[in-house]
Amino acid sequence: MSSRTIQVSPFDLVVFGGTGDLAARKLLPALYQRDRAGQLPDEGRIIGVARKALGHDGYLKFVRKSLHDHVKSVEVDEEALTRFLARIDFCAVDVTGESGWPELAEILAAGVERVRAFYYAVSPDLFATISTHIQQFNLVTPKSRVVVEKPLGTDGESARAVNAAISCVFSEHQVFRIDHYLGKETVQNLMALRFANRMFEPLWNSMHIDHIQITVAEELGVGERGGYYDGSGAMRDMVQNHILQLLCLTAMEPPDAFQADSVRDEKLKVLKSLRRIDERNAEQCTIRGQYRNGSVGGQPTQSYLQDIGQDESDTETFVAIRAEIANWRWAGVPFFLRTGKRLGNRTSEIVVNFRPISHSIFDHTAGRISQNRLIIRLQPDEGMTLEVMIKDPGPGGMRLRRIPLDMSFVETFGVSNPDAYERLLMDVIRGNQTLFMRHDEVAAAWRWIDPIIAAWHNTSQRVHHYAGGSWGPSASVALIERDGRTWLEDSD
Ligand code: BG6
Repeated sequence: MSSRTIQVSPFDLVVFGGTGDLAARKLLPALYQRDRAGQLPDEGRIIGVARKALGHDGYLKFVRKSLHDHVKSVEVDEEALTRFLARIDFCAVDVTGESGWPELAEILAAGVERVRAFYYAVSPDLFATISTHIQQFNLVTPKSRVVVEKPLGTDGESARAVNAAISCVFSEHQVFRIDHYLGKETVQNLMALRFANRMFEPLWNSMHIDHIQITVAEELGVGERGGYYDGSGAMRDMVQNHILQLLCLTAMEPPDAFQADSVRDEKLKVLKSLRRIDERNAEQCTIRGQYRNGSVGGQPTQSYLQDIGQDESDTETFVAIRAEIANWRWAGVPFFLRTGKRLGNRTSEIVVNFRPISHSIFDHTAGRISQNRLIIRLQPDEGMTLEVMIKDPGPGGMRLRRIPLDMSFVETFGVSNPDAYERLLMDVIRGNQTLFMRHDEVAAAWRWIDPIIAAWHNTSQRVHHYAGGSWGPSASVALIERDGRTWLEDSD
């Protein structure tokens, strides 16, 4: 079936933090691409909000530059650009004070019937005051929604406070908590693979699966975000959200329908079933690392401390965890989770390792029978590989070999996938929350993460160092090898 573009309903999208990094790198390019594809209706406005009194022309200049910097030049055509710029508006608002709000209210008054989405692309400590002003100026309509970005708190308690501030003004069905990993095409494909095929589901359990690895590896370091990152670390920045969401989609029971609450109910059950890691077992089940200098892609790279301009810090830029899901389906199947910055290459993948066959009919001349593996690649080359045993072709008797049945989405469909934000922003306008996190999921994720972070601090669990461009500290290899398994890149 070829792809279809269905226009979304008329909307006003108000972007708080309209001149920020997220707007420039992700939101404006994504909206431009959807407009270019014909998905935005004529009555669709994007209203950038910022403290600076840029004026309409000043903001258009900012939007042009953002597209120039973050959209491939072949994809910027004059006709699409002119149409896109015509839907842009700007309003200077002091979100902590009173100025600018009446002007914003006036702009919005022209579209009372439209879907109205408020995107909080600002620091979470502004969520409460923005929400209060939105209420004070009567800006919430029945078709209003609010979109919030992580970090949603730094622990369970602060996440509750963020949520409380938002829920004073918006009800849960109006709140869209973004985890952009859920907008990645291959992540959605994971659900298609599991629930639109007969062949995998009967095998998807501890009877047939030996263990699962989830890796999100980045080549980049912390870049300009040292200030934020040093107070956060990989556990809060990546594991609490992206990695746990991938784990949930891999491990959840089939939902009764591909609908927001059905999917989110099942994800929640996985989070609740995660076996607790705390001071008693954190040392055995988790590894923290921090990058030193090294080299990535032949280029020398600085250490984390140099990147953040500090003499010391024990913030982790790498985490490996041996997790367990204590339920009927997964009892005894370890889930090895791993993420880090400045690693060997940019790879995100889920590796499902099946158990060995129960009995071999072949003698030793056939060679070793390797286990089947299903590799779901999220990036950079999105696709799937199913590794199966075959007979080596030609004469020479029965010699067995594991080969990959490989599918690259780009090669198969000839197009690269849209950025996650394109899909997610359209879902906000459509009011579809399936790919967004519910408040209880966020809370359950923190309930599992908080004791791990507390254990690290209370037991002074050390941060292992690793060279930039490696695959993390050797302790991470030891973590999985203690279990008799190996990370994918070390296996044959
Ligand atoms: C963000 C994290 O949520 O995800 C970043 O804050 C990280 O630290 C990024 O680099 C990774 O996203 P992607 O889509 O590039 O894998």
